[in-house]
Amino acid sequence: MKLSHALAALIIAWFAVFGRIQAVTLEVNQGNSTCIKAELTASFSITYNTSNSTRTVQVPLPDSATVDAGSSSCGLDGNTPWLVAVFGPGHALGLSFSTNGSLYSVANLTLQYNLSDTSVFPEANSSDVVTVVSSSVGIWAPINTTYRCLSSATFGVGGVTVTFSNMRLEAYMPGNDLSPAESVCMADQASTTAPPTTTTSATTTVTPAPTPPGTPERGVYSVNNTNGTACLLAQMGLQLNVSYFSQSQNKTIQELVNVTPNLTSSSGSCEASSATLILTEGRATTLTFTFTLNSTSNKYHLSALTLLANWSDMTAPLSASNTSLNYLRSTKGRSYMCNTEQTLAVVPSFSLNTFKLQVQPFEVTTNQFATAEECQMDQDQMLIPIIVGAALAGLVLIVLIAYLIGRKRSHAGYQTI
Ligand SMILES: *[C@@H]1O[C@H](CO)[C@@H](O)[C@H](O)[C@H]1NC(C)=O
Ligand SMILES: *[C@@H]1O[C@H](CO)[C@@H](O)[C@H](O)[C@H]1NC(C)=O
Ligand SMILES: *[C@@H]1O[C@H](CO)[C@@H](O)[C@H](O)[C@H]1NC(C)=O
Ligand SMILES: *[C@@H]1O[C@H](CO)[C@@H](O)[C@H](O)[C@H]1NC(C)=O
Ligand SMILES: *[C@@H]1O[C@H](CO)[C@@H](O)[C@H](O)[C@H]1NC(C)=O
Ligand SMILES: *[C@@H]1O[C@H](CO)[C@@H](O)[C@H](O)[C@H]1NC(C)=O
Ligand SMILES: *[C@@H]1O[C@H](CO)[C@@H](O)[C@H](O)[C@H]1NC(C)=O
Ligand SMILES: *[C@@H]1O[C@H](CO)[C@@H](O)[C@H](O)[C@H]1NC(C)=O
Ligand SMILES: *[C@@H]1O[C@H](CO)[C@@H](O)[C@H](O)[C@H]1NC(C)=O
Ligand SMILES: *[C@@H]1O[C@H](CO)[C@@H](O)[C@H](O)[C@H]1NC(C)=O
Ligand SMILES: *[C@@H]1O[C@H](CO)[C@@H](O)[C@H](O)[C@H]1NC(C)=O
Ligand SMILES: *[C@@H]1O[C@H](CO)[C@@H](O)[C@H](O)[C@H]1NC(C)=O
Repeated sequence: MKLSHALAALIIAWFAVFGRIQAVTLEVNQGNSTCIKAELTASFSITYNTSNSTRTVQVPLPDSATVDAGSSSCGLDGNTPWLVAVFGPGHALGLSFSTNGSLYSVANLTLQYNLSDTSVFPEANSSDVVTVVSSSVGIWAPINTTYRCLSSATFGVGGVTVTFSNMRLEAYMPGNDLSPAESVCMADQASTTAPPTTTTSATTTVTPAPTPPGTPERGVYSVNNTNGTACLLAQMGLQLNVSYFSQSQNKTIQELVNVTPNLTSSSGSCEASSATLILTEGRATTLTFTFTLNSTSNKYHLSALTLLANWSDMTAPLSASNTSLNYLRSTKGRSYMCNTEQTLAVVPSFSLNTFKLQVQPFEVTTNQFATAEECQMDQDQMLIPIIVGAALAGLVLIVLIAYLIGRKRSHAGYQTI
C-alpha cells in the first residue's frame, strides 16, 4: 500500500518534470486508414475543492495516454469526427472536428477528470467524474494541411486551463500521415518574425548582473466576440517578476521581464459571468487573466492568473497559476483603472507588476471603456497634492497669526515703556 503510494508519487513527479516535454501521438483509424492524427504536449491546470479549501494541480497528458477506439470516430457514418484520448482511471481529453469543405476546425474540446483518483487529486472532497467542454478553441486550418502550433496555447475550459504546445494536428486526412503542407498558427508566426539572432546574442553575452528593464511599454489588447465586436478591453504595461532555475548561472535567479506589446498577441473568450484574456508573447510566454462576475453583487474581479514560460535559460518550463485571486475589483458596466504601479502576487515564484492599467472585462459597448473606477492608490496619489497644499496653507496661516500676535505684543511693549 505504502509502496504503491510512493510509486504513484514518483510517477507523478516524473510526469511533472518530463511529461510536459514529452509529446504524445494519437491516431484515430478506420479500417486501414487514419483520419485524425495529433502530436502534442498538453497539460491541464485543474482546481478542485478539498474539505476546507481549494487546490490547483497541474496534470500533464502522460505519454501513456491512448486513443479510446470505442468513443473516437472518423465520422463516416454521420457522426462528428472525434478523437478521445484516455489516461489514468477515467480521465479523458476529447477533440471533436467539423469542416465546411475548405476549412476544418476543432469544434469542441472536452476534458473529463475523475476526482476519485487520489494520486492526482489528494484530499478531494468529491469523487465525481467532472466533464468540462469548450466550444471556442480557435484551432482551424485548410483541408489537406496540418495545423502546426509549437508555441503554447492556453484555453479556459470551464474552470480548467488547458495548455497545448508542440502541436501538429490534422483531421479529414487525405493520407495515412500528416500532410506535409502546414498551416502555422499566429503565435508561431509572431515568433519567427522576431530576428533569430537574439537567441545567439543572448547566449554568447554572459550577463552577470541582470539590468532592470525599466518601465514596460503600455499595450492595447482586446478580445472579440464571434461576431467581431470587442467584448473585453485592456490597456496596460506589464512586467513579470519570475524566479526560476537558470541553466547558465546554475542557480535560482529572480528576473524582471517586460512584456513587449508589439510582440504580443491577444486572444480569449467572453462568457456571461467569466472572461478570459490570453496574452502570448512569441512562443515562450503565455499569460492568462480570468475575470469573474458575481451576478448578485454586480461586482467583478481578477480571479485567476496563469503564467506559462519556456525561456531558453530555464531548465524546465515554468507553469505558475493561482485561481483564487481577488484583484482589480470593480462594478459591472464600469472599467477598472490604476495608473499607479501595482504588484499582483500570484505564487511565491511569480508576481505581476502592472503600470497604467485600465481594463473592462464585461459589458463593453462600442469598443470603448465605460466610466472608470479608480484604484485606491490613484486616489491617494491625488490626495497628496491636496494634503501638501492644505499643510502649506496652514503653515502660512500660522506664520501670519504669529506675526500679527508678535506685532500686537511689541506695540503693547512700546506703549508700556
Ligand atoms: C487492410 O490492409 C490489408 C493488408 O494490407 C488488406 O488485406 C485489407 O483488405 C485492408 N482492409 C481494408 C478495410 O482496407
Ligand atoms: C467548491 O465549493 C464552492 C462552495 O463551497 C462551490 O461554489 C464550487 O463550485 C466548488 N468548486 C468545485 C470545483 O467543485
Ligand atoms: C484545514 O486546512 C489546514 C491547512 O490548510 C489544515 O491544517 C487543517 O487540518 C484543515 N482542517 C480540516 C478540518 O480539515
Ligand atoms: C462535443 O463534441 C462531441 C463529439 O461530437 C459531442 O458528442 C458533444 O456533445 C459535444 N459537446 C458539446 C457541448 O457541444
Ligand atoms: C474513478 O477512479 C476510481 C478510483 O481510481 C475508479 O474506481 C473509478 O472506476 C474511476 N471512474 C471512472 C469513470 O473511470
Ligand atoms: C468555410 O469557412 C471559411 C471561413 O468561415 C470561408 O472563408 C469559406 O468560404 C467557407 N467555405 C465554404 C465552402 O463554405
Ligand atoms: C484533399 O486531398 C484529396 C486527396 O489528395 C483530394 O481528393 C481533395 O480534393 C483535396 N481537398 C481539397 C479541399 O483540396
Ligand atoms: C478584434 O476586431 C478588431 C476590429 O474588428 C481587430 O482590429 C482586432 O485585431 C480584433 N482582435 C482580435 C484579438 O482578434
Ligand atoms: C455580438 O454578439 C453579442 C453577444 O454575443 C451581442 O450582444 C451583440 O449585440 C452582437 N453585436 C452585433 C453587432 O451583432
Ligand atoms: C551547479 O552547482 C552545483 C552546486 O551548487 C554543483 O555541484 C554542480 O556541479 C554545478 N553544475 C554545473 C554544471 O556547474
Ligand atoms: C516594437 O517596438 C519597438 C519600439 O516601439 C521597436 O523598436 C521595435 O522595432 C518593434 N518591433 C516590432 C517587431 O515591431
Ligand atoms: C456574490 O456577492 C454576494 C453579495 O456580496 C455574496 O453574498 C456572494 O457570496 C457572492 N458570490 C460569490 C460566488 O462570490
